[in-house]
Amino acid sequence: MTFIEIRDLMKIYYTKETNIRVPALRGLELSIKEGEFISVIGPSGSGKTTLLLILAGMTDPSAGYVKVGDLRLDQLSEEERSLYRRYRVGTLWQLPSRNLIWEINILENVEIPMRLLGIPREERLKRAKELLTEVGLDKRMNHKPQQLSGGEVQRAGLACALAHQPLILLADEPTGELDSKTAGELLRFFKHLNKTHGITAIMVTHDFDVAKSTDKLVQIVDGRISGYSPTKNLITIRDMHQVYVDTYGSIQLPRHVIENITVEKEIHIEEKEGKIILSQEEEKANKKKKTKAK
Ligand SMILES: Nc1ncnc2c1ncn2[C@@H]1O[C@H](COP(=O)(O)OP(=O)(O)O)[C@@H](O)[C@H]1O
Ligand SMILES: [Mg+2]
Repeated sequence: MTFIEIRDLMKIYYTKETNIRVPALRGLELSIKEGEFISVIGPSGSGKTTLLLILAGMTDPSAGYVKVGDLRLDQLSEEERSLYRRYRVGTLWQLPSRNLIWEINILENVEIPMRLLGIPREERLKRAKELLTEVGLDKRMNHKPQQLSGGEVQRAGLACALAHQPLILLADEPTGELDSKTAGELLRFFKHLNKTHGITAIMVTHDFDVAKSTDKLVQIVDGRISGYSPTKNLITIRDMHQVYVDTYGSIQLPRHVIENITVEKEIHIEEKEGKIILSQEEEKANKKKKTKAK
């Protein structure tokens, strides 16, 4: 069942002082099934964080349709969005100081999102202990974040993100500060929690090795989805052979394909034996000729 549906999503940032408008998302379309764990991969500035901020209810879309469960995020008022954030969304950010409060221990940290919802203390403690045990921190509950390793801190952040039983879990480069071994460990816990809690999870990353640990990989280029693929059998990003055709029939080619063609120039399209073939043969031929001449 589709749980998150995004159509024609646009986000334009406006800076008053400079009177400059920056388009961050340009007609993004995406659907995600309930319980799925997907990664969104793309170069810096492609709009990954913006997409997460919209799904987290932390910023409003400039235009478009965004549905999470039975809620239309694009139609929420400021107040409704703040309730949505508090009740339904769990977030894990790259910087640990955004996930945890440094002055209190991690058990108290995990209790906080539940406190905000008025959950009684006994229940809070029970759930916080269960979650911290699930992320392998049962012996560390009374430690403050600075007494933990980088990987442990992110695992505590993960427990915090799930404390109030949100409907979606959003993570923005959660392994960005970790070495690859520790990152792998965090991702194993992440995956385990996604499966056992049945929570729909989206992780943003620019690292293909990190993205591979999720079920499905979606590539974002300049604010639009280009390639998407199940991660099974993907060895490199060049193995992504599927691109998304939106409701207008537009496609955004994957970055590695764009690098090999001449942009702002027409491509040839041909339907042949049930296949659609795109080519820029003339360019290629010219390139070859040039190389030979050298
Ligand atoms: N608050 C903001 N004000 C103005 N421009 C922004 C703001 N946040 C992001 N942008 C711009 O929007 C684009 C997408 O940014 P972002 O979503 O952060 O990309 P990513 O997370 O993929 O690096 C970039 O060009 C960025 O400079
Ligand atoms: Mg970002």
